[in-house]
Amino acid sequence: MPSPIDIKEKVYLSPYNTMGIQAVADFFVEVHSVSELKVALRYSKTNALRTMILGGGSNVLFTTDFKGLVILNRIEGVEIVSDSDQEVILKAGAGENWHELVLYCVDKGYGGIENLSLIPGTVGAAPIQNIGAYGVELVDVFVELELLDRESEDIRTLSKSECNFGYRDSVFKRELKDKVIITSVTLKLSKSGNPNYEYASLKQNLKSKGIDEPTIKQVSDAVIEVRQSKLPDPDEIGNTGSFFKNPVIPVFQYDELKQTFPDLPGYPVTERQVKVPAGWLIEKAGWKGKRNGNAGVHDKQALVLVNHGNATGEELLELAGLIQGSVKEKFEINLIPEVNLIN
Ligand code: FAD
Ligand code: EPU
Repeated sequence: MPSPIDIKEKVYLSPYNTMGIQAVADFFVEVHSVSELKVALRYSKTNALRTMILGGGSNVLFTTDFKGLVILNRIEGVEIVSDSDQEVILKAGAGENWHELVLYCVDKGYGGIENLSLIPGTVGAAPIQNIGAYGVELVDVFVELELLDRESEDIRTLSKSECNFGYRDSVFKRELKDKVIITSVTLKLSKSGNPNYEYASLKQNLKSKGIDEPTIKQVSDAVIEVRQSKLPDPDEIGNTGSFFKNPVIPVFQYDELKQTFPDLPGYPVTERQVKVPAGWLIEKAGWKGKRNGNAGVHDKQALVLVNHGNATGEELLELAGLIQGSVKEKFEINLIPEVNLIN
């Protein structure tokens, strides 16, 4: 017998997206298991409904009401697959809260994801953009994931190479976009207690506390402090973290720009490409702390767009477009949204 699911109609999505957009979903259901997820998908097929899967709603912008079924993923469970003196292989349900998983690992002494502390959202969304922060990306600890193919309803396992991870990128933003639902993620964590703390602001935070050889707990605490000092808390003001990706430009363009803007930061990606911080470009284009109606640019981090209250998805898109136009005009650089635009 399939488990019963509770499909609601006309549900406000503001509690389910960290930008706090007041969009309405025609249909809405919360699922706690793969079998419930299958029932929800069958319901959408039977009723010819578009569907979307939502985790913590921390990387989506609803640009209008959602005409279809929103499936809220709350598939839980954390399982130790193998455990040796050196490492632990851990499998987590896609609906688990990411930061709570990080805290659990830090507490147990499993290293590898402490730099990804305090990233909002669910485990199942982490592979979508290969979450990253403070010198670490999901790909660094990733083993494999399980997914449900929406069309065939088969469960499949995808290896790291099949996920095709890149900077804020994966196969799930490309070939498999809207075709699969991730149901669990498996990670390999280290017991060596050898954290990575090379990222400048992280190192600086640790140094200011007189810590030369931090534990994974100290790295996690430092990441949390650095993040809290510049990123707005979605419980206080709506936002989705970085709204745009950091652009990767050719070295020759970077060298040219440096002549006009000598303090332009840049991080080599390959011999021919340099990543430049979009926050810097947006700030220099004069947008930091600015407002356009109810939508605004955060005053401590120009890469974060915020909802000052009752902003619509359209208002945020309009502001994003104005920023893209200014940055293009001043630097000849195209900013690409990191946030997933949902219509
Ligand atoms: P959602 O917003 O619910 O979904 C995002 C996309 O993934 C949607 O397209 C959705 O349909 C799809 N999706 C969700 N779950 C699944 C699934 N199980 N299967 C298939 N598709 C799915 N990101 C970083 O990388 N680094 C950061 O440092 C960072 N900092 C942030 C700080 C703040 C304050 C905020 C608000 C966001 C930040 N983010 C950061 C972005 C965000 O937290 C991550 O992208 C996170 O992984 C999104 O998880 P979610 O569950 O909220 O995804
Ligand atoms: N900067 C400015 N002005 C600003 C913001 C930033 O000049 O208003 C400059 C900083 O001075 C620094 C550089 O830009 O030299 C980088 O800033 P920061 O360390 O804050 O990182 P970021 O590049 O803006 C990226 C990620 C974040 C992640 C941090 C830490 C992207 C798109 N964003 O931000 O991820 O937490 O690095 O690793 O890659 C997210 O994806 O939602 C997110 C928050």
